[in-house]
Amino acid sequence: MAGLIERYSDRLPFGPDDPIISLEEGSTPLIYACELSERLGAQVWLKVEGANPTGSFKDRGMTCAVSGAVRDGSTAVVCASTGNTAASAAAYAARARLTCAVIVPDGKIARGKLAQAVIHGARVIGLRGNFDEALRLVRELSANHPIALVNSVNPLRIEGQKTAAFELIEELGPDRPLDALSIPVGNAGNITAYWKGFTESADQLERLPRMLGFQAAGAAPLVLGHPVEHPETLASAIRIGDPARGDEALSAVAESGGAINSVTDEQILEAYRFLASHDGVFCEPSSAASVAGLIVHGVPEGVERIVCVLTGHGLKDPETAIEVGDGIIACEPELAAVEAAVWG
Ligand code: F0G
Repeated sequence: MAGLIERYSDRLPFGPDDPIISLEEGSTPLIYACELSERLGAQVWLKVEGANPTGSFKDRGMTCAVSGAVRDGSTAVVCASTGNTAASAAAYAARARLTCAVIVPDGKIARGKLAQAVIHGARVIGLRGNFDEALRLVRELSANHPIALVNSVNPLRIEGQKTAAFELIEELGPDRPLDALSIPVGNAGNITAYWKGFTESADQLERLPRMLGFQAAGAAPLVLGHPVEHPETLASAIRIGDPARGDEALSAVAESGGAINSVTDEQILEAYRFLASHDGVFCEPSSAASVAGLIVHGVPEGVERIVCVLTGHGLKDPETAIEVGDGIIACEPELAAVEAAVWG
């Protein structure tokens, strides 16, 4: 299967002679969620972005950002990250043989993501500060040094990520139009990218879907209408208080007739468990904000067909799963003990 740049060469800013750094990202599954649909009284599909090569949607943007960096002659890339961007940048940079530095809030990113950044050979910098401070610093760093910034402030990231909207349109087709897209919002690059993808495809659609964005209650600047100085949520991927593309996200929501709302950590965890234990799909907690949002705030009037974007794989954050799951039953190696353990 081809990577994104090859697959959508007519809609991405790359020419036939440009270098392409790809791990065959994209073309992710779109799964019908039977139990969730029943619970919500609507038809719900899950866009499983955890099936990308590094386990998150970031790979769509990163193939473009890193290919662009190579085309421009850069020898190094940098990003601020709550974890997934770091993992993706580290992998694509390794493949392109670029130096990679990632700046993450120290002690605040999930273990799986840290493992990825480390094993791909990035310089992993644990900042004694939060994501917003890290992003400010890497913007300054890249302005003063020849190092390419691969956060979603880089337009190539948005270009790559808009392809997820193209896939949804191809898969659902004109006979099964999408009424709404439900998506977690952190730095607000992904909601911006989906909206760009949908608006660029307006000629293939009877109407554009409503954009329903969800933030964690402790990190909900777009819901509150002002930056949050000390964002806090266990959904560490979206622990962001001052989203770089916040204005664009708000425009996408307004233009589409959608909404941005917040969900608490408890509501996120309930949705996370429900999806894993009822529909068999394991996403990371931040991704479950898109599901929690629909459960808590309800499906808007007139919406029948919804896609929830599950932005990252559950294995990114095994600690949270083990903490909130049912736990492990200790057992002696004897049949009677095993019988008792199995049947409770
Ligand atoms: N879901 C996951 C799993 C993420 O990793 C992120 C962002 C989002 C949702 C929100 O997407 O920022 O485009 O609104 N993660 C970034 C990172 C910030 O550094 O990995 P967004």
